[in-house]
Formats: sequence, C-alpha cells, structure tokens
Amino acid sequence: MEDVNLRSHSEAETIQMGEHFAARLRVGDVVALEGDLGAGKTEFVKGICTHFSVDDLVTSPTFTIINQYAGTTHEGDPLKIYHVDLYRIDSPEELAEVGFDDMVFAHDAIKLIEWPEKAAQLMPSRRWDVRITADSDNDDVRHIAITAPVPSEVA
Ligand SMILES: Nc1ncnc2c1ncn2[C@@H]1O[C@H](COP(=O)(O)OP(=O)(O)OP(=O)(O)O)[C@@H](O)[C@H]1O
Ligand SMILES: [Mg+2]
Repeated sequence: MEDVNLRSHSEAETIQMGEHFAARLRVGDVVALEGDLGAGKTEFVKGICTHFSVDDLVTSPTFTIINQYAGTTHEGDPLKIYHVDLYRIDSPEELAEVGFDDMVFAHDAIKLIEWPEKAAQLMPSRRWDVRITADSDNDDVRHIAITAPVPSEVA
C-alpha cells in the first residue's frame, strides 16, 4: 500500500491532479473520495473524467445520486464511469433503492464515490482512498492524500 500526499493551490490544479491520478485506474476500480462539503471532490472527479475523454458534462450528482458517463480507456475501448454522491442518503433502504450494491461491484465500470462513509458497510475493501482537506491558512489550498488499494492475492 503506497501513499501519495499532494498540495493543490487552485481548483484547476486539483483537476490536473485528478487527471494525473486517473492514469493509475483500471476498469472495475473503486475510488472513495472523502472530504467535507466543498473540499473539491467533484473537481477531482472532473480531472479523472478528462483523462478518460468524457464528453458529458461532469456535475455533482447531488439529486440524481448516481451519474453515468461514457469515457474511453487508455487502450481506446469504451469505458463506463459511475459518479456517485451519497451525501443525501440516510439509510440502507435508500442505498438499495438507488442500486448501490450492484453498481459498486460492477466489473465493467470505474466507480467514483463521494461521501463513501454513508455506505460504510457496502464499500469494497479493495479501493482507492482519496481524502481532500482544506488548508487552515489558505482558502484555495487543499491537501490530497491518496492511498492505493492493497494488492489482491495473486490468482
Ligand atoms: N485547490 C482547490 N481545489 C479544489 N477546489 C477548490 C480549490 N480552491 C478552491 N476551490 C473551490 O472549492 C469548491 C470545491 O467544490 P466541489 O464541488 O468540488 O466540492 P465537493 O468536495 O465535491 O463538495 P460536496 O461534498 O458538496 O459535493 C469549488 O467551488 C472550487 O472552486
Ligand atoms: Mg461533490
């Protein structure tokens, strides 16, 4: 398990960092994005989507809970991306209603999940963790800590 600690000085830099990070992702991966309201999770997601050449507008799935985008992999194959915002989810019933369980285990998509703590019981243990925190001194500075998934056993 390796950790990366980044310091972003602007919204644009956070998007660039998301774009750079996305090169490490593979189909089926889950990314848990933690951080307070306005931390920059959705901006980081925009960067990931840019890397995968998503043409759809990337916006916060605040009310839709799950957005689906069409991207393209490094090899030029079509790639499905689920962008999830669980902020408004308050119960296991609501999670079931939006189809979270099937979505999070889908092998044919990359899954980017904001407010993963709302689905703590259902989050796969093999996942990327991206934690974004505001800086206490500078309004535009963010600290971005990335933890890679623990390698799964060799088959
Ligand atoms: N370094 C930075 N990185 C990212 N966003 C920044 C930065 N500096 C300022 N901002 C601002 O912070 C806000 C981040 O909003 P964003 O929607 O990405 O947050 P979020 O973590 O997704 O919040 P929510 O939990 O509400 O979905 C934007 O308004 C952006 O302009
Ligand atoms: Mg957001």
